[in-house]
Amino acid sequence: MSQHPMHEANRRGWDAVSAGWQAEIDARVDWRSIPDNIHLVLDAVELKYLGEVSGRSVCVLGSGDNLAAFALAGAGARVTSVDISQTQLDIAAGRAGELGLSIRFLQADVTDLHELPDDHFDIVYTGGHVAVWVSDLQRYYGEGIRILKHGGLFMVNEYHPFRRLWKLDAGPLKQEYHYFDHGPFTYDRSEELPEGAGPSGTQGRQGPPSPLPSYEFHWTVSDMIRALIESGCELLAVEEYGDGNQDWEGGAPLEKMPANLVLVGRKKRV
Ligand SMILES: C[S@@+](CC[C@H](N)C(=O)[O-])C[C@H]1O[C@@H](n2cnc3c(N)ncnc32)[C@H](O)[C@@H]1O
Repeated sequence: MSQHPMHEANRRGWDAVSAGWQAEIDARVDWRSIPDNIHLVLDAVELKYLGEVSGRSVCVLGSGDNLAAFALAGAGARVTSVDISQTQLDIAAGRAGELGLSIRFLQADVTDLHELPDDHFDIVYTGGHVAVWVSDLQRYYGEGIRILKHGGLFMVNEYHPFRRLWKLDAGPLKQEYHYFDHGPFTYDRSEELPEGAGPSGTQGRQGPPSPLPSYEFHWTVSDMIRALIESGCELLAVEEYGDGNQDWEGGAPLEKMPANLVLVGRKKRV
């Protein structure tokens, strides 16, 4: 359970869609090949700043498909994987077992990591569409940086905020959102479930699935940089990369716009 009602609704949504969503990821990449090939998941830009991860303690926040967790553990890091959805974590834990990876899985809201101690990890890594689910960016990054050792690395790799503004269909590009409107933007995730699915994506009663309201938040580039700095990091780098289309973007002509925004911070030494 999350204390935040919108996060709690999002948790229910993720628990319900998790199996189908992981199947979509599986169609794109084979999770079994990840531990031996970190480059399948982490970009050269990220690896440049992460450096050698073997033997280092890493916490992945909003771990989702856990591909980043598998890649980092495969490279020898001691990984803690945090997600609000127990269903996502259960799938990942089963896969980690098959891969022989020792990863700690923790169900928690990224805005409340009280089960993790202060000043503990060498690296905190987060991103790939996590901030969009979180109502309070300052608390999210604040918690991520609290659990980081002084001098440790905080890395965010998010879908670029400029990319979130557009209507996701083919044809001429149309702006749908105001850049400075944070939301929340509400929609019903039960549309992602098959007919007759129960609350966890299992077979239930016949008919349309019951509603699964979900809440998204749009953060700007400066929101992200400010939250990182105000949480006690110095900003080491800002990078942008990726200019192709992504298959879930509905054919919108978003090529030539950056897909990823990477922020790298170092927690200030005392
Ligand atoms: C789109 S996935 C992105 C994660 C990963 N990078 C990936 O590509 O799979 C979003 C993940 O964030 C998790 N999430 C959403 N809100 C969260 C919160 N408040 N705290 C922790 N995890 C959250 C969801 O359960 C989901 O697994």
